[in-house]
Amino acid sequence: MIRALIGIGLGLALAAGSVEALAQEHSYVGIKKCRSCHKKVLMGNQYETWKKSAHSRAFETLKGAEAIEIAKEKGITASPHEAAECLKCHVTAFGVGTERIKYVLEPADGVQCESCHGPGSDYRKMKVMADHQKSLVAGMWEPGKDEKICTTCHNNESPSWDSTKFQLADGTSVAFDFEQAKEKISHPIPSDVKGHYLEREKELRAK
Ligand code: HEC
Ligand code: HEC
Ligand code: HEC
Ligand code: HEC
Repeated sequence: MIRALIGIGLGLALAAGSVEALAQEHSYVGIKKCRSCHKKVLMGNQYETWKKSAHSRAFETLKGAEAIEIAKEKGITASPHEAAECLKCHVTAFGVGTERIKYVLEPADGVQCESCHGPGSDYRKMKVMADHQKSLVAGMWEPGKDEKICTTCHNNESPSWDSTKFQLADGTSVAFDFEQAKEKISHPIPSDVKGHYLEREKELRAK
């Protein structure tokens, strides 16, 4: 009975409060918390693919000669890897309040998983992750369907914005093409595993 009442109360609170306000409550956990499962070969080792990609090097890039030159031209007096004007797109969760950073986010890890998949404190648990719908409810984003996640960083505020970067089929070019850019960073779960990870892991263990 008490449980039922609490259930109703929670339902009302959810209906009254905005879903967005709830989404704000998820916290960042950092890439080590994703790596434990997503470096597995059975899973498709998304960690390794990311590690070899430009996103993992985004912070290192700010220490290079090109970055220092860009910052100088812009009149930024701080080193680029210490300047908010650069860090905002070159690391994960820049400017997010400490109350929403559950574990240390290393700047050196650059643009990590959670920049694109959302703060993972509530979806990273095995039982949640194995269920697409539950993961969404727990705050997981779908970057494959939402170009806006990319364009918070891939926009003309970037000093190296280059309007000829991606060639389109009609012969013109653009600075950012969502489909081609996704292809470049592709890190799929193997098709025979997708949606069945837990069963496949069990089968492997039984062998
Ligand atoms: C305890 C293990 C575990 C941890 C930790 C974990 N995941 Fe997962 N993740 C899984 C499993 C299992 C699946 C589902 C695989 C399947 O069966 O398709 C999954 C699926 C996903 C998917 C695809 C979801 C979908 O439904 O399309 C994304 C994206 C993802 N994980 C990102 C992350 C990120 C980012 C983190 C760190 C914040 C993380 N995972 C941490 C186990 C984990
Ligand atoms: C938090 C900011 C941020 C987000 C979000 C982000 N990126 Fe990036 N991306 C960067 C930065 C910074 C670099 C350059 C890193 C470097 O070279 O040091 C980059 C580089 C890339 C590159 C390599 C560029 C090249 O051609 O060499 C691709 C492709 C890319 N991003 C695709 C995407 C896609 C697709 C999304 C969305 C699903 C996305 N990015 C989301 C910041 C971001
Ligand atoms: C609005 C987001 C954003 C901001 C702010 C930003 N960057 Fe970047 N940066 C990117 C993205 C995205 C890329 C990947 C290349 C591209 O598509 O522009 C990138 C790439 C780079 C690169 C590699 C260029 C190349 O040839 O691939 C350097 C160097 C760089 N940024 C330096 C800086 C410096 C220095 C600052 C601060 C003055 C800065 N960035 C601020 C988003 C940003
Ligand atoms: C720059 C953005 C970006 C970063 C960083 C990133 N991902 Fe993704 N991820 C994507 C996009 C976009 C897709 C969807 C691809 C599609 O639908 O074509 C995706 C898909 C996935 C999937 C599902 C693959 C499938 O077959 O359905 C998993 C699992 C995943 N990412 C895990 C991770 C993990 C773990 C990390 C960190 C090690 C990470 N991602 C870092 C953008 C990113």
